[in-house]
Amino acid sequence: RQNERESLYIVLNYAKSFYQEQLLRTDEGQAIGLSYFRERGFNDTILKKFELGYSPDVWDAFTQAALAKGYQADVLEKAGLLIRKEGSSTVGYDRFRGRVIFPIHNVAGKVIAFGARILKVDKSKAAHQPKYLNSPETSVYHKSEVLYGIFQAKNAIRQQDVCYLVEGYTDVVSLHQAGIENVVASSGTSLTVEQIRLIGRFTPNVTILYDGDPAGIKAALRGLDLVLEEGLNVNVVTFPEGEDPDSYVQRVGAQAFKEYLGRAARDFITFKAETLLLDAGQDPFRRAEVISEVVGSIVKIPDAIKRQIFFRRTSEMLKVEEQMLISEGNKLLRKQQ
Ligand code: GTP
Ligand code: MN
Ligand code: MN
Ligand code: MN
Ligand code: MN
Repeated sequence: RQNERESLYIVLNYAKSFYQEQLLRTDEGQAIGLSYFRERGFNDTILKKFELGYSPDVWDAFTQAALAKGYQADVLEKAGLLIRKEGSSTVGYDRFRGRVIFPIHNVAGKVIAFGARILKVDKSKAAHQPKYLNSPETSVYHKSEVLYGIFQAKNAIRQQDVCYLVEGYTDVVSLHQAGIENVVASSGTSLTVEQIRLIGRFTPNVTILYDGDPAGIKAALRGLDLVLEEGLNVNVVTFPEGEDPDSYVQRVGAQAFKEYLGRAARDFITFKAETLLLDAGQDPFRRAEVISEVVGSIVKIPDAIKRQIFFRRTSEMLKVEEQMLISEGNKLLRKQQ
């Protein structure tokens, strides 16, 4: 097992260099991949820092190059790079073709997987061609335990004592370029306990920066209770409809982006209560449901003093007796036991 993992690290590192070479030193890579990154506003420094690349639009360009270097087809397949068809006489085809490549590193900086973006999103064909294609689970890549950008971000997270959590690869890259380096991405999956514990190794403070669309807001709400249970402090920032951290920072610049974070950050309880209340309107029964939803989140906080602070704040915000919230909370706690 140890040997298999070692050989995957080696071939994944080779693949990373191959895709980088393709991006920077081939006509196709420059004309298609590099100009795509340029249009998105990524500079050379940031391309190198994240080791971004390009996979040529050919069935087996990577596989042939790797075989010629002496890598075994078997290992390429186990690394998630080669797709083989059973009973076929050919060696198979590359998983990533005609896409820009985002290597995914573990905390120690080893490449463990790739995310690959299509160049043009064609909505009508979305079902056939996903916007992003990712490596499958392998013996070195367990999707649920990984945060994109953690290697590049970990020192800044420790220094700033807060971790920004975004949805996408490009959000991480753009924020770094703007000088905001304490940022990682969950890459479109809902947050897991392993990912939260990974952040917890560097800071107890998380600020969730999710996209300004209904899906992003739902994802933020889903992620929250889990983060609370782990004892981390959570704040939430949402962006104007149709914007994400990448588009926003590219539009307004680093300084205005930081000011926006300062203005728009809300603690998770306020965020949850406001979001749900907006939905509930004036209907008293639905408002009552909001109250028990919010109380349900508060009782997830392990620290009693913090719980008390949030009970008080919520009672002011929802205009209900604090004592009522506390006894509601106790009821929920008894049910859980
Ligand atoms: P850009 O369009 O390049 O700006 O990407 P984005 O990161 O803004 O994309 P979006 O907000 O739609 O999605 C957030 C993250 O979810 C992406 O960075 C991916 O990690 C993931 N994701 C998005 N679309 C897909 C998809 O079609 N398949 C998979 N597997 N993941 C996706
Ligand atoms: Mn595992
Ligand atoms: Mn989105
Ligand atoms: Mn985006
Ligand atoms: Mn996005």
